[in-house]
Amino acid sequence: MLSGQKIVLGVTGSIAAYKSCELLRLLTKKGAVCSVIMTESAQRFVTPLTFKALGAKEVITSDWNDPEHTIPHIDATRDAALFLVAPATANILAKAAQGIADDVMSAAILARRCPVAFAPAMNINMWQNQATQRNVKQLMQDGAIILGPAAGEQACGDMGSGRMLEPTEIIELLEGAFSPRVLDRCRVLITAGPTFEPIDPVRGITNLSSGKQGFAIAKACALAGAEVTLVAGRTHLKTPAGVRRIDVTTAYEMYRAVMNEVSRHEVFISVAAVADWRIANPATHKIKKGYTSDTPELIFEENPDILASVASLENAPYCVGFAAETDNLIDNARAKVYRKRVPLIVANLVQDALGQDSNTVVFVERDQATPLARASKEQIAQALVAKIAQEVN
Ligand code: C5P
Repeated sequence: MLSGQKIVLGVTGSIAAYKSCELLRLLTKKGAVCSVIMTESAQRFVTPLTFKALGAKEVITSDWNDPEHTIPHIDATRDAALFLVAPATANILAKAAQGIADDVMSAAILARRCPVAFAPAMNINMWQNQATQRNVKQLMQDGAIILGPAAGEQACGDMGSGRMLEPTEIIELLEGAFSPRVLDRCRVLITAGPTFEPIDPVRGITNLSSGKQGFAIAKACALAGAEVTLVAGRTHLKTPAGVRRIDVTTAYEMYRAVMNEVSRHEVFISVAAVADWRIANPATHKIKKGYTSDTPELIFEENPDILASVASLENAPYCVGFAAETDNLIDNARAKVYRKRVPLIVANLVQDALGQDSNTVVFVERDQATPLARASKEQIAQALVAKIAQEVN
């Protein structure tokens, strides 16, 4: 979504300027073409060379003595898709709100024709000051995008609002701004990650699912404008911005959470690796060796098939399942299309997918199978969002 976009990164004089280096690196990694403008005080925290070395096409520091541009503050944002000021100090917010243009940064903000976004970074008292709040309100009325700030520990030792958002959070928000809203306000329920079936209080049966694909799909749906509920098994993954998350442990808890939620949703995407069996007789105390000569006996009980249960509801949402197979990929996936009565199964080979950042999948429907080239889980998520949007709209 950011690939090929020209983004001008404005860096002003806050200690959070060090985070802009990472921000530029991430933007460049996403394929954005970045120029940087720095105020004089920003250059006291980081140097123009840092941004150059991290991939900035150019770094503009002054309106004067710049042999590459006739009028730097005008040239800087020509053809830009976005002017992102991060960190944005109280000073630049005030100047931008008033239309002051007394240096290359403020003049470039005034001269731009592209949208402008500010990621404020300042001490909590400066942020809460009526003057700053008035300026922010004015900027929003003028159409500026305000990203954050976050609350937390500040460089000055104070706690509270005023920290610049983390670079990854800013990138997520920008991706949202650049995404086509093909699932606008569509309510999507997703399961992701592994389930865990206890054997005793310290042991259990689980699987190698990382949750990465399900979380990537939740993020892609949210970026496409959907209202997303994510029912997640045990994983340390961060909840994508704007996604409502319900944590569960066992397959039965996942089943209950899904059945509770499903009637409010128009799409159900079942990505979780759900245990087919649970232990019918989990021990209440830790099973210890040596107390008896018997080996412990586990009795298994079948878990409900969440996907099939949802698909067979009277007002079933549009259902998508996943199939991780070790062989006979398409035949096995198609059998699931019929058995679980779902229109679409995303099929992949276990050895291609589990725990990895990329995957090779096939979209299997009743009458066709569409293979996708190997791609990152994020790209697969975007392809799936496009496919679902086509089917439900
Ligand atoms: O039958 P199998 O486990 O291979 O099917 C995989 C698909 O079914 C996945 O979409 C998975 O999330 C879903 N599933 C489920 N409940 C189960 C088992 C699998 O929803 N108990």
